[in-house]
Amino acid sequence: MNPGPAPRHSRITGTGSHLPALRLSNQQLVERLAADGIETSDDWIVERTGIRARHFADPAEHCSDLATAAARKALEAAGCTAADLDLIIVATSTPDMVFPSTACIVQRKLGVHGAAAFDVQAVCSGFVYALTLADAMIRSGGARCALVIGSEVFSRILDFKDRTTCVLFGDGAGAVVLQASDTPGIVATDLHADGRHVDILCTPGTVSGGAVTGDPLLRMDGQAVFKLAVGVLEDVARSTLAKAGRSADDIDWLIPHQANIRILQATAKRLKIPMEKVVVTVDAHGNTSAASVPLALDTAVRSGRIARGDTVMLQGVGGGFTWGAVLLDF
Ligand code: ACO
Repeated sequence: MNPGPAPRHSRITGTGSHLPALRLSNQQLVERLAADGIETSDDWIVERTGIRARHFADPAEHCSDLATAAARKALEAAGCTAADLDLIIVATSTPDMVFPSTACIVQRKLGVHGAAAFDVQAVCSGFVYALTLADAMIRSGGARCALVIGSEVFSRILDFKDRTTCVLFGDGAGAVVLQASDTPGIVATDLHADGRHVDILCTPGTVSGGAVTGDPLLRMDGQAVFKLAVGVLEDVARSTLAKAGRSADDIDWLIPHQANIRILQATAKRLKIPMEKVVVTVDAHGNTSAASVPLALDTAVRSGRIARGDTVMLQGVGGGFTWGAVLLDF
């Protein structure tokens, strides 16, 4: 059968998200850490990061479980079934296994087979990278109905003896269904990386010879990350808007990676976007890495803030160093 011309656009037709049941407020985390002699406080965490709580997965709960739960909600919102999918991409840095990909495990959990499935590893930029890939595959005619997921269990790679990092992160998943469309949809995308900064945010261990070698826990130079993040989030917003021939005034909702409220505020200020137009979920979720942007998107859609036709900018930034943005008409 002739598949016909490639569609010109891709469009998000459904969103979903999932958080593990265990929610830890700052105070609850402070008490747990104090039992191990690690000193921190609710005041310090709120003042420096804006984080008030995070969710942690149960030991029996894997990245693919969170991803599958988010995917089911996105499929339902899109009015699709898993059988409609011809592409599954999972963005994660905390996969179930070294291989196969978490996307293949999600496919099995959804009870389907045949669609292309693979993972994307771009740390906190992972979802924006994955969405950009899915958009390109749909526009080139390689797929018509894609499931794009960001899912993380960062609690597994945190050093709970390092107070400078363990208070920042949480677990969760967000997903979208992206479908071929005659109208946009995704308007412009822009991705970047700078491998010179590998060392400022990394989990440097690996599996070798039947054991973990090196340090398998998250390490971060917080101040270096902070400075880089604010600069590149402004740059990539401007470059993406330029590709689309639009200005920051056209953005109804800005959804930056949810790492730290001060990064979100600084980015909004540089772009002259009022905080009322910035979706903030870092207070409730902490930094969920690749899951943070789709989690924030789904939260804002389900609360009725983001409506059909709104112009939304999604922004990722994270280890690598990687960064990118997607501008879309929802
Ligand atoms: N509780 C109490 N005190 C703490 C804690 C804590 N959890 N962590 C650090 N401190 C102390 C430090 O020891 C230091 O004490 P000192 O002055 O006696 O030496 C003091 O607080 C200040 O530490 P700084 O590192 O200077 O604090 P800063 O204001 O830079 O905030 C933070 C640290 C929150 C990590 C900040 O640099 C940041 O947000 N960076 C961005 C990193 C980020 O968001 N990473 C997420 C992953 S990357 C990404 O997703 C883009």
